[in-house]
Amino acid sequence: MSPNSESSVEDKGIVEDRSQHRAIKTVAVLFAMQAESTPLIEHLKLTVNSDHLFPKGSPWIVYSGGHGDVHFHVIVPGKDGETGVDNVGTVPAAVATYAAIDKLKPDLLINAGTSGGFKAKGAAIGDVYFISTFVNHDRRIPLPGFEKYGIGAKQATQAPNLVKALGLKEGILSTANSFDLSEKDREWITKNDATVKDMEGSGFAWVAATLGVPFLGIKAITDLVDGGRPTQEEFLENLHTAAAALKRVVPEVVSFASGKRLNEL
Ligand code: ADE
Repeated sequence: MSPNSESSVEDKGIVEDRSQHRAIKTVAVLFAMQAESTPLIEHLKLTVNSDHLFPKGSPWIVYSGGHGDVHFHVIVPGKDGETGVDNVGTVPAAVATYAAIDKLKPDLLINAGTSGGFKAKGAAIGDVYFISTFVNHDRRIPLPGFEKYGIGAKQATQAPNLVKALGLKEGILSTANSFDLSEKDREWITKNDATVKDMEGSGFAWVAATLGVPFLGIKAITDLVDGGRPTQEEFLENLHTAAAALKRVVPEVVSFASGKRLNEL
């Protein structure tokens, strides 16, 4: 049976069971922006998957190919129909993650991309982080029981051997749908003990964790949120360098994971 044809996302138990016992053969990597993903897509010679995987009108694009023994897919949420910019943020990330799980049946999901970093927590521009836990800093819900839900901490698949072998830094990622940082955001990021800040990770992680699919985050730092310069300027200056770092590190992560079981990562 092909790795892509055996279960649907409704079969939560089957997906969880498979991910505990199968060697990793199919990997899907979700990016938010085309510019973050293009160097990797070109480097691995992935081509647009024209299998009509998604409903007509879906903006998501899947690029597929091989990397060693792995079936390798890159998913980008595509462009917004009205403004023509990339569909950044948690909603497109979550929907694209769901579609990727449903149609591609990955053994492992990776959210790769750029992010802000906190100098006070040891981050520097150009670092590539392995995300230990995904949380939110803009879901502040002061109702009984909902505060924890709002933060929504999801622990990534543990991969201590991978982190060591690749020499990656490790940190908590906090997500919100704004690029800027309000005082409240800062307060909650500190409370969450986060080192890395993005706009997609928690949406991706919620879907992967809810459906029981193993997931990792690999994030390259483009700007220092507490560095004193406007983060948007630093982001634009460093986007291409960060994308080049992802082109190097993501294939290393996938090569390390290839053929391994989760408890070997
Ligand atoms: N992506 C890159 N830098 C970011 C930042 N400072 N905040 C949110 N997302 C980002």
